[in-house]
Amino acid sequence: MPGDMILESREVSKSFGELTAVDSVDYQLREGESAGIIGPNGAGKTTFFNILTGLFPPNSGTILFRGRNVTKMSADQRVRMGMVRTFQLVSVFDTLPVLDNLILAVVRADTKNRNVIRFILGSSHTSQMEKVCMDTLEMVGIADKSRVLTSDLSYGDKRKLEIALALALKPRVLLLDEPLAGLSDPEIADIMELMNSLKDRLTLVIIEHKISQLTGLVSRLSVMHEGRLITEGDPDDILRDPVVRRVYWGEDDSSDDT
Ligand SMILES: Nc1ncnc2c1ncn2[C@@H]1O[C@H](COP(=O)(O)OP(=O)(O)O)[C@@H](O)[C@H]1O
Ligand SMILES: [Mg+2]
Repeated sequence: MPGDMILESREVSKSFGELTAVDSVDYQLREGESAGIIGPNGAGKTTFFNILTGLFPPNSGTILFRGRNVTKMSADQRVRMGMVRTFQLVSVFDTLPVLDNLILAVVRADTKNRNVIRFILGSSHTSQMEKVCMDTLEMVGIADKSRVLTSDLSYGDKRKLEIALALALKPRVLLLDEPLAGLSDPEIADIMELMNSLKDRLTLVIIEHKISQLTGLVSRLSVMHEGRLITEGDPDDILRDPVVRRVYWGEDDSSDDT
């Protein structure tokens, strides 16, 4: 139900040797919400996503997804429950057409089918799956590139494929780690439009450095600093918060126009 708690972390911590990358983070996300996480480089944002999605376990703390404790569940199990992050395109085959990569990703995510990939790709199931995948490419705006080799896509279209790969897994919650990074202004406008269309259908959590873009997209911003969630709230209020301005831009409280 919209408004119900969908994803929650309780006192989650993760250390790498001496470094505490994520430090006792309590985080809550409600179904239907679009939320942003910001913070300087090295704040622990990506590590927090990795823990939420099950790439590695926390040293301590609990992750709840739709009320279930998923802390010990694998990343694949969480994907099947509907918690999906955008893939980095390193996990696709550059020399395959866009559509084939999408079909493979869907098959791969379903462990029951893992041993029969070859069978499925040669069977009548293919046309069904092909249709679903084509619909997904349509949704992100690259249906006309379905036969193009993945390596030949523009940077912006690759980002759309990354999002398509996640959408094809039918997420309830989609987690995006810096979806605008490295894109040109027109490409950013494109991805923003796509994310705006997604936010009406999905629960979104977005880590992003381009804060000015994020404020129009999300209803809540959380700020991470040195592994901790230091504050959260309405995006405009958060950006006016002197503590946030200091950690994020190194602004001095006493400074006037510098
Ligand atoms: N696999 C890892 N091994 C060791 N240190 C890591 C690892 N991943 C991240 N770190 C460290 O944890 C801290 C937080 O990193 P990260 O979560 O990537 O921050 P952010 O995404 O906010 O930039 C950084 O100091 C980083 O160097
Ligand atoms: Mg990061």
